[in-house]
Amino acid sequence: MQHINLGDLRVSRIGLGAMGMSHGYTDSGTDEAESVRTLHRALELGVTLIDTAEIYGPYVNEELVGRALKGHRDEVVLATKFGLVSHGGAGAWTLDSSPDNIRSAVEGSLRRLGTDHIDLYYQHRVDPNTPIEETAGAVGELIGEGKVRAFGLSEAGPDTIRRAHAVQPVSAVQSEYSLWTRGLEERVLPVLRELNIGLVPFSPLGHGFLTGTIRSTDEFKEGDFRYGNPRFSGENFQRNLRIADEVQAVAEQAGATPAQVAIAWLLAKGDDIAPIPGTKRVARVEENTAAESLRLTDEQIDRLSSLPPAAGETHPEGARQMLER
Ligand SMILES: NC(=O)c1ccc[n+]([C@@H]2O[C@H](COP(=O)([O-])OP(=O)(O)OC[C@H]3O[C@@H](n4cnc5c(N)ncnc54)[C@H](OP(=O)(O)O)[C@@H]3O)[C@@H](O)[C@H]2O)c1
Repeated sequence: MQHINLGDLRVSRIGLGAMGMSHGYTDSGTDEAESVRTLHRALELGVTLIDTAEIYGPYVNEELVGRALKGHRDEVVLATKFGLVSHGGAGAWTLDSSPDNIRSAVEGSLRRLGTDHIDLYYQHRVDPNTPIEETAGAVGELIGEGKVRAFGLSEAGPDTIRRAHAVQPVSAVQSEYSLWTRGLEERVLPVLRELNIGLVPFSPLGHGFLTGTIRSTDEFKEGDFRYGNPRFSGENFQRNLRIADEVQAVAEQAGATPAQVAIAWLLAKGDDIAPIPGTKRVARVEENTAAESLRLTDEQIDRLSSLPPAAGETHPEGARQMLER
């Protein structure tokens, strides 16, 4: 496994997103043993970047990751996120990146993860009620105390990234980026490169869509966040199937799987990019991690890059308002 830098943090070229093991998808949280095996297999394969958040569950995903990493803590760069749970009473899915809330959040995350430090601590969404300078300052204090090693942002726009970075250097921005979600290429990516900040694409498989295994939404159960997502709805979904078909066609040509092609396309975008495909299955972490050695030809990359934009927004309206793009 190759490694790259996110700011000063050295991480494996491909990470592992743990969210779906507990939260967000049909069958999340149903097979903890396989989830733990998946995390262990990832470590054996050389994956060092493990991604979770306090909101996943909430809390249970951090607990799962903490249990699985017992005895392996020093092998990984452990990333988690604050800012979508308000510990002052308002609870889950409330934006709160105030310094007091971050202080409460970090103690809970450290306890659930069974560690004395978080390697990469992201603000999960920009909080319009807290100046980003205050948030950055609070994370800077945690870094000074040794509770956090590096600061990250998620779905932050260029101005917020610059303001935060001026107070406390940002090591990584984690935002949705994949073959069908490319909005950050124009305005965000140049700023990251100017400031030497790494990019961690989340949902690099388009919530599984780009793997070609989702041909209908009938199987989605309640609680699956693709249910009600505009890209997975009605006419949009039918139109988007053409994108999955094209990824499949390139995969056949490349002798790889569509998931591997979707990941390899991201890797080809630069050595400051470390995607975190999510899976709760051993076989798939093996498949996804093997994308590291897939080299797409220039022609294949061009063909993928010229795919039509996806039909439909990335998120339903409420969640979309939390994105700064
Ligand atoms: N910062 C943020 O706001 C944010 C938002 C969303 C996600 N994230 C992070 O990003 C990580 C990845 O994103 P994601 O999980 O939403 O989306 P993703 O990685 O694009 O896709 C995950 C989905 O694809 C399926 N899958 C994985 N590998 C596959 C393969 N080889 N073939 C077929 N299906 C496959 C998974 O099912 P199985 O699990 O059943 O394999 C799961 O349903 C998350 O785990 C989380 O850590 C961050």
